[in-house]
Amino acid sequence: MKQKGTTILAIETSCDDTGIAIIKTSGKKKPCFDILSNIVSSQVKIHQKYGGVYPTLAKREHQKNLVTVLKEALKKAGVLRKSKCLGLRLTSRRLEKLKEILKREECLLKELEKFFKKYQKPKIDAIAVTVGPGLEPCLWVGVNFAKTLSYYWQLPIIPVNHIEAHILANLLPQISENPKSQQIKFPAIALVVSGGHTQLVLMKKFGNYKIIGETRDDAAGECFDKTARILGLGYPGGPAIAAEAAKIKVQSSKLKVKLPRPMIYTKDYDFSFSGLKTAVLYAVKKKHGKAPLRSAFSRTTEGRQYIKQMCVEIQQAIIDVLIKKTIKAVKNYKAKSIILGGGVIANKELRRQFKLKIKNLKLKINFLIPPKNLCTDNAAMVGIAGYFRWRNGKIDNWEKIKAEANLRIR
Ligand code: KG4
Ligand code: ZN
Repeated sequence: MKQKGTTILAIETSCDDTGIAIIKTSGKKKPCFDILSNIVSSQVKIHQKYGGVYPTLAKREHQKNLVTVLKEALKKAGVLRKSKCLGLRLTSRRLEKLKEILKREECLLKELEKFFKKYQKPKIDAIAVTVGPGLEPCLWVGVNFAKTLSYYWQLPIIPVNHIEAHILANLLPQISENPKSQQIKFPAIALVVSGGHTQLVLMKKFGNYKIIGETRDDAAGECFDKTARILGLGYPGGPAIAAEAAKIKVQSSKLKVKLPRPMIYTKDYDFSFSGLKTAVLYAVKKKHGKAPLRSAFSRTTEGRQYIKQMCVEIQQAIIDVLIKKTIKAVKNYKAKSIILGGGVIANKELRRQFKLKIKNLKLKINFLIPPKNLCTDNAAMVGIAGYFRWRNGKIDNWEKIKAEANLRIR
């Protein structure tokens, strides 16, 4: 492996964001990272009407978007070069191989063929790709796309775990709101909270992880998304609920609506959020007779006030449980760092209350939290996780790589 100037092309398609990034790393003992490009094409508008991600639609969109996003990422990174002999023909052997890899992604194959004819192999050293966990059809598009690039450009491929990528997003440049705390001191407790996962992970060193707790049913992001739907708010639910909640300043104790804090006092580190969703559903039905809340009631002054109060309480219930269990893990494992990651960590109140809690408890601990745009899915975080995997010799032959929807971090 080159010690200086290693450039990684990273691909992320585990859910509804099509992401490609080019990151450059230098130095080995204390690696430095430079994000040359980090393009994310969001499918939010497409999934909005379903109130959640529709996997087959997401797969189709990834197929449509990947080559465009690739071109944009290479161009922004300054490594997109037109081929010297335009109209270059692919040899039939190579074309057959591409067809074989992309036999389920025909429209992607057509786009890629055009791309390979028009552009040269870029100056990159390896390809990192999210192989799991995530939505299986979506993961496969990214994996097959990475395989094609790896085969065609003769580059090594690095399989990346999406949860590890969320954790290591904290090491990307200028990421910490407190630049002094960018280093991870071990042992560390990582809380990863997204639309698909809520996990507490003990990290003893790079590449050494143990899940100590996780949700037994819905993920916290899923709870935001589903309760937002019950309240007749948009998708994704997290930002929609946060925006409603921010419209009123009221102490939780003074709210008229009250929700449970599921599993907050249990001895383990597990979570459960489906009961919270059900509690919201029952409360709305009791108040209004039916759900979702889309009728004239939601436009009355009383209705609007009710929605805002409910949003404050949903957000607070989730925050209370997440903070309580994380701090318990930090104390019991004598952790030296707290690392946060995943889409829900973009929540402003959660960020504020976490910092406040650490301050009030006078915890001497490194607190790592990514900027909001690196909390939600992106490929730069896949690139950095890929780098650490590569450093540990976790490279694979493109023929061996496969998507694993239920991949666990270890
Ligand atoms: O990590 P992510 O982008 O995708 C997955 O890996 O699932 O997380 C998406 C989740 C969604 O459930 C979304 O509602 C939630 O993150 N989310 C938020 C916020 N922004 C995104 N939840 C609460 N507050 C936010 N500001
Ligand atoms: Zn994610």
